[in-house]
Amino acid sequence: MKILVTGGAGYIGSAVVEQLVDNGEPVVVFDNLSQGHRAAVPPEAIFVEGDLADRKAIDAALSQHRPEAVMHFASRTLVGESMQNPFLYVGDNVSNGLNLFKSMVEHGVKRIILSSTANLFDEPERMPIDESERIVPGSPYGESKFILERILHWLDRIYGMRFACLRYFNAAGATLTRGEDHHPELHLIPIVLQVAMGKREKVSIFGSDYPTRDGTCLRDYIHVVDLAQAHILALGALDGGSRFYNLGNGEGFTVKEVIDTASEVTGTKIRAEVGPRRAGDPAVLVAASGKIRKELGWVPQYPHVRAIIESAWRWHQANPDGYAK
Ligand code: UFG
Repeated sequence: MKILVTGGAGYIGSAVVEQLVDNGEPVVVFDNLSQGHRAAVPPEAIFVEGDLADRKAIDAALSQHRPEAVMHFASRTLVGESMQNPFLYVGDNVSNGLNLFKSMVEHGVKRIILSSTANLFDEPERMPIDESERIVPGSPYGESKFILERILHWLDRIYGMRFACLRYFNAAGATLTRGEDHHPELHLIPIVLQVAMGKREKVSIFGSDYPTRDGTCLRDYIHVVDLAQAHILALGALDGGSRFYNLGNGEGFTVKEVIDTASEVTGTKIRAEVGPRRAGDPAVLVAASGKIRKELGWVPQYPHVRAIIESAWRWHQANPDGYAK
């Protein structure tokens, strides 16, 4: 099946493209390279440099390449940034998604996988969080994904657009050739590894007075390879109907545990200092992924954070400056 992947030059998008290409699927990557890297796109994929804000550009890509399905990763994804600049999220994330959806309807493309987020669940009543949990977005970022999920609900009802919304918890880790390279880097695991590589002096722990086993925030880290596998399974199931899945391992690790594990993996004592809390961080976020396991037979290969960190460490050592410019 020919698949157009928006944001396919980015961290998660490129890992999914890698698996699609390995499976022999024809892939078209549509990316404006604002955050992604041209070098992250495998040579087997067609690359279109384009911006979803430009309706003509996405129309042209769909007319020319005629994909049967879309995977939509292209997005801003920072909770903190969305609290500073909400219009980039409830504005651009939503209007870019709308441009894509309108173009898909006009070109008769009726299958889509949407990257959604655990940030839909700011006030969970149960932990781990399953798909029946009440949705209370934690930021304009989470809200933008919720709006896109709701729009897809109506496009399914009205046009028969089949969708899967995959709500990622904390994506991390690397494939052998693709890893995390953000500018600036704000995510915990790559920051910790930068300290191990001597590229940063220390990592700041954002708060140590949370109600968790050691006082630091607890998160459910999911390997990017396992996420990619979930996308491929979800795409294969779309003709059976639209769906929502929470994606994590069902086990959380605290910030201190991540730092300690990274110290073991890298053989370096990683310097850490407790700082103030970061606005918008919930204490605990853990996914219940029973639904996708049961319905699609998804089984994560790397459920433990140690294996996730090992893979990221391998990639960072092989690519100390990230993707070459
Ligand atoms: N953290 C630190 N110090 C740092 C960076 C992070 O202590 O320098 C802590 C955070 O407070 C948090 C944990 O490490 O408790 C993980 O933080 P990340 O920034 O790596 O990831 P987030 O949990 O903030 O967000 C990620 C994605 C979002 C997604 C969310 C869903 O970036 O897009 O997971 O859980 F919405």
